[in-house]
Amino acid sequence: MKKVLVFYKSKTGFTERYARWIAEEIGADILPIEKVNLETIDSYDILVFGGPLFASRISALDKVQKWMEKRPKKTWVIFATGATPSDDGFVKSIERINFPPDTQKPARFYYFLSGINFEKMGWFNRTLIKLFARMSQKNIKTDSGTAPVPPRDLRSVDLCDPIYIEPLLKYLRIKR
Ligand SMILES: Cc1cc2nc3c(=O)[nH]c(=O)nc-3n(C[C@H](O)[C@H](O)[C@H](O)COP(=O)(O)O)c2cc1C
Repeated sequence: MKKVLVFYKSKTGFTERYARWIAEEIGADILPIEKVNLETIDSYDILVFGGPLFASRISALDKVQKWMEKRPKKTWVIFATGATPSDDGFVKSIERINFPPDTQKPARFYYFLSGINFEKMGWFNRTLIKLFARMSQKNIKTDSGTAPVPPRDLRSVDLCDPIYIEPLLKYLRIKR
């Protein structure tokens, strides 16, 4: 049986939760990326990395891609989490942005809907998101032609669901 490591980058906990669900189902080891190095990578056959989307980029992917370049024979699986409800077009665009030609591509890429956690977010990111939400609201024209009042208190939302990891689990069970 092949050895599997699930490792992740997570700021507000969504990606970590998905990583835990995957590791529990597969019986894999799990680590935050901060505790992973090339030596760690060398003791596994299948590496599953999860990172959140920030402005369409997978957090910490640059570091992971360097390891992928150094160990191309290992099986690499990557998943991203984000607040955007997914369809095929969205997932393809995220793949195009994060894995352009001439970069290391994983054997499989998955996207899992997560949510937004304002309570665990730093001040900077909280302000950034609220600003962005207000700007988007201002662009919406109503029937009466007036712009709606932008929301003052955006709420945290948790849309994580273990159902989303099923295709990834299926792939890992075959590869093992
Ligand atoms: C500054 C900022 C930018 C974000 N950009 C995106 C984005 O481009 N697309 C998306 O779907 N979600 C975006 N999100 C939502 C996060 O990807 C989502 O909350 C993620 O699951 C957080 O993961 P974590 O809890 O593991 O840190 C953004 C969140 C923040 C704070």
